[in-house]
Amino acid sequence: MKSHIIALLIAVITCSSTDGRQFLDPQNGSQHHVYSDAFNESKVNVTQDSRHQPEYYGYDRPCPNAEDIAPCVCTYNSEDNAMDLDCSAVESEDQLKQIFKADFQFKNYRSFIMYANINIKVLEAGVFNGISFEQIVIQFSHLEIIELQALDSCYETAWKIDVCYNRITSFPFDELSHFPKLRYFAIGYNSLSMIPADAFNGLTALETLYLWDNHANIVGTFKDLPNLSGINLGYNNFSLTNNTIPTKYIKTGSSDLSYINLFGNNIVSVEPGAFDIVEGLVISMYGNALSTLEEATWRPYLEAQGYLSAEDNPLVCGCDIAWLFGEDQLLGQVYDDATCTDGERLIDLDPKIFDLC
Ligand SMILES: *[C@@H]1O[C@H](CO)[C@@H](O)[C@H](O)[C@H]1NC(C)=O
Ligand SMILES: *[C@@H]1O[C@H](CO)[C@@H](O)[C@H](O)[C@H]1NC(C)=O
Ligand SMILES: *[C@@H]1O[C@H](CO)[C@@H](O)[C@H](O)[C@H]1NC(C)=O
Ligand SMILES: *[C@@H]1O[C@H](CO)[C@@H](O)[C@H](O)[C@H]1NC(C)=O
Ligand SMILES: *[C@@H]1O[C@H](CO)[C@@H](O)[C@H](O)[C@H]1NC(C)=O
Ligand SMILES: *[C@@H]1O[C@H](CO)[C@@H](O)[C@H](O)[C@H]1NC(C)=O
Repeated sequence: MKSHIIALLIAVITCSSTDGRQFLDPQNGSQHHVYSDAFNESKVNVTQDSRHQPEYYGYDRPCPNAEDIAPCVCTYNSEDNAMDLDCSAVESEDQLKQIFKADFQFKNYRSFIMYANINIKVLEAGVFNGISFEQIVIQFSHLEIIELQALDSCYETAWKIDVCYNRITSFPFDELSHFPKLRYFAIGYNSLSMIPADAFNGLTALETLYLWDNHANIVGTFKDLPNLSGINLGYNNFSLTNNTIPTKYIKTGSSDLSYINLFGNNIVSVEPGAFDIVEGLVISMYGNALSTLEEATWRPYLEAQGYLSAEDNPLVCGCDIAWLFGEDQLLGQVYDDATCTDGERLIDLDPKIFDLC
């Protein structure tokens, strides 16, 4: 298997890069994209950016007074005509709530950012006090609970919610249906005990779903996600009958689905028709308990030029996998690292041993 596929695998197992950082340059008074009109009012160019917020027109400093919101820091990016609020240094829930009672002249912000904060355990209901964000990024912090309606001001605006690397035990999953623009949802590396798959169903904008490493009981099935490009369910605790992925378990209806990642979930088998069949789909079963690769299950994905990662599974390598060594060479669609229980790689097996099957 080619190395770029491996690279893709590695790429999909990491949480979103902390791309919020690019917004974090402290405001330094640079105003080169702001100009003055005849009345000497500063004006912001709002012509090209589809996300422009014309309410800023006529103002060169749409952020609240810095001292009113400290230790949060508001940055106005005139090029994008967007405001970002970094509250990494906030000291308590009460302080955060107080900050949002300041005079916010404008209500629509691009991002709410909090990195490496150990003080905020609860994101409280109504905390944003009507201020909306397009991106909510809270990472590497000690957040435990996101209360019902903590994010209500962002229902119509948020396309990204990334709360990876916290200690979250409670998230208002039932509210996700209120976010029609949600494209990116990541809650990996937390401590959820249960994740209701049904809460995502019908999120037509959703492209990336990242639930990695919660050791959570994932309940229900994933369906009706027509824009999904990747789903990452590694290292959870599925509650599946006989540890078997049932038919129609992930049926998004998306023609853009490019990966399904099920690393480390103690899966013993996968029923035929468990997933969407999409050309080029990469299915990662690394580190599960598969003892065979059933033809009825896997042939359709491999025939659709999909790829299967089966490394670190106790494959028995009997006649049941002879189909991979047929004239259609479907073994070429399985990663090289798949091995039999004796450690021999599937690609190193002599195809002749299957002649008697
Ligand atoms: C403002 O800060 C940015 C990044 O921190 C820098 O690239 C830019 O040159 C600064 N502008 C001024 C006028 O100091
Ligand atoms: C416009 O504003 C600038 C900077 O604030 C100031 O120096 C200048 O005198 C003003 N011009 C007029 C015509 O008011
Ligand atoms: C505003 O945008 C228009 C069209 O892109 C451009 O021609 C004009 O120079 C810009 N004005 C400023 C002050 O950047
Ligand atoms: C789904 O993706 C397409 C293509 O990227 C986009 O045009 C469409 O708006 C998306 N649907 C939703 C509901 O966002
Ligand atoms: C997985 O879930 C089952 C109940 O569904 C529970 O008994 C078990 O302790 C969980 N395992 C882990 C590692 O959380
Ligand atoms: C689970 O496995 C047992 C033992 O192999 C079998 O009898 C039972 O029918 C299986 N249940 C389902 C739902 O497949």
